Amino acid sequence: MTNFIKLPEPQKDLDFPLMKAIEKRRTKRKWKDSNLSEQEISNLLWAACGVTHKETKKSKSRRSVPSACNSQEIKVYIALSNGVYLYDEKNHQLIKILAKDIREYIGTQKMMRSAPVGLIYVSDYSKLKAFQFKKDENKWFTSATDTGFISQNVYLYCAATDLSTVILGLVDRDKLHKTLELNENEKIVYTQVVGKSLDN
Ligand SMILES: Cc1cc2nc3c(=O)[nH]c(=O)nc-3n(C[C@H](O)[C@H](O)[C@H](O)COP(=O)(O)O)c2cc1C
Repeated sequence: MTNFIKLPEPQKDLDFPLMKAIEKRRTKRKWKDSNLSEQEISNLLWAACGVTHKETKKSKSRRSVPSACNSQEIKVYIALSNGVYLYDEKNHQLIKILAKDIREYIGTQKMMRSAPVGLIYVSDYSKLKAFQFKKDENKWFTSATDTGFISQNVYLYCAATDLSTVILGLVDRDKLHKTLELNENEKIVYTQVVGKSLDN
């Protein structure tokens, strides 16, 4: 079994006006019973936190979203019908971490279980090393803020391409943490479901 899936190049020339995407952005809780294509997953994850500026000898890479001190502490996992993958943004690929369908744990609302894609935003506290993150309270606050940027990019991409999405705070984080076999430095912040919109 291969543990890596190289994603197709993201379609950065997708033509949709930013102001229209902002106007169209909406929480939508209904979707078609069909999977997203690899291209859509590639675009979605690149929008979420893809690398927009590669690292150099002098500076760390930059992503599509800001993060406090460029900590890049939020990792994005994607739950699909055939398993859970970690988005490795540096290589724009998926790394398989679990070969089972865990989407029933993506949120506690029943309707969320049927979403074809579940994104899981996990903060890696070990990356929040600067003095201002010393207290756990500050780590959590920063993680929630940085997750918000990622989620909004996902919302905007969805608005531009007729996908439905919902960010979820109603999550059994302990259950999902155990299911993903995360360590104690890894904290689940929010999840977000995505599916093809029923409107078109
Ligand atoms: C931090 C956060 C957590 C949320 N959690 C949930 C949730 O668990 N379940 C849900 O159905 N919607 C959730 N929502 C979506 C909100 O209900 C939605 O954004 C709000 O009703 C406004 O609608 P709009 O996004 O279409 O403008 C959440 C939104 C935010 C920002």
